[in-house]
Amino acid sequence: MTAVIRPSTGAAYSKLLGVGGYRPKRIVTNEELCTWLDSTDEWIRERSGITERRWAGDDETVVSMAVEASRKALAHAGIAAEQIGAIVLGTITHPFQTPSAAAEVAYLLGATNAGAFDTSAACAGFCYGIAIADGLIRNGTSEYVLNIGVEKLTDFIDKTDRGTGFIFADGAGAVVMGPSAEPAIGPTIWGSDGSQRDVIIAEPDWVTLRREGGDWPVVKMQGQRVFRWAVGEMANVCRQALDAAGVSPEDLDVFIPHQANMRITDAMIRSLHLPEHVVVARDIALQGNTSAASIPLAMARLYENNEVHSGQTALLVGFGAGLVYAAQVVTLP
Ligand code: COA
Repeated sequence: MTAVIRPSTGAAYSKLLGVGGYRPKRIVTNEELCTWLDSTDEWIRERSGITERRWAGDDETVVSMAVEASRKALAHAGIAAEQIGAIVLGTITHPFQTPSAAAEVAYLLGATNAGAFDTSAACAGFCYGIAIADGLIRNGTSEYVLNIGVEKLTDFIDKTDRGTGFIFADGAGAVVMGPSAEPAIGPTIWGSDGSQRDVIIAEPDWVTLRREGGDWPVVKMQGQRVFRWAVGEMANVCRQALDAAGVSPEDLDVFIPHQANMRITDAMIRSLHLPEHVVVARDIALQGNTSAASIPLAMARLYENNEVHSGQTALLVGFGAGLVYAAQVVTLP
């Protein structure tokens, strides 16, 4: 006889409750960068919008940065670490194949009741995490979830590579999510295109490195292909997320795209015909591109600058290596 299994039941909806970020102490200006990179301050500003970036020191690891960002998010949310039922941590730069960074972060935070795991969705990692956390809360697996994006990309770039050395940076951002009586997270529009895996790829792989020797793996990027893909496709993904949520560009208060490149952000704004009143996150100028950490870090700065407030409607979109992408409309914590 087949037993009748009682299913889990969760909250009607989920919402963002708090956000926090951690920025490494070291600021690297374009001027300093150009002492080892064959480039100029003017070229970097014009092509990427970056004027300076944050690079982590030896004492600032994927785990330690994630813990600091999470503590701030928990404080903002007014939630204790023991209340967290799951930690979803997006990263591509944790330097251990196993165990996960998330389990160590849970331990260090005192999140003794949390299931914890890492995801690998590069610059879409944070938006993937929102979709996962929304599901965990609504199906009753977890009441509160910590969704973290964290990267120490400087461990995996060639700092003299003219295509990547000026873009990538380090940092962590986190949000606490929990139950809600009202809808506050729109449907996630996501996807992947593995046929373009070579467009952004860390090479060589570990097995090739062990077998054949060679240089430490670094991220290699075909910049123009990424640019064309992002500008051509991501506005459409944003439109689908807005449509799915039943929100028009006029209804939006805030746009927080992955901080890949200021020119990509500007192209998306034009393509979406975003009204003037929409606040746009431009964290990349002072932070650089921190992949999975870029959206929550950008969100945190908007609060620090008093540019946004709780209850506003924001469109998020992440995209990057895979290729992968995800977008959703959320109510700000
Ligand atoms: N500094 C100065 N000059 C540079 C340079 C650098 N770092 N890199 C390239 N150049 C020069 C090239 O030599 C070339 O010069 P030439 O016209 O005299 O031959 C010119 O700039 C154009 O080179 P190209 O490689 O075609 O650069 P680009 O215009 O594609 O710009 C990026 C490079 C990386 C800024 C651009 O491709 C880009 O922004 N791509 C998207 C990357 C991105 O957002 N990644 C994040 C994904 S998550």
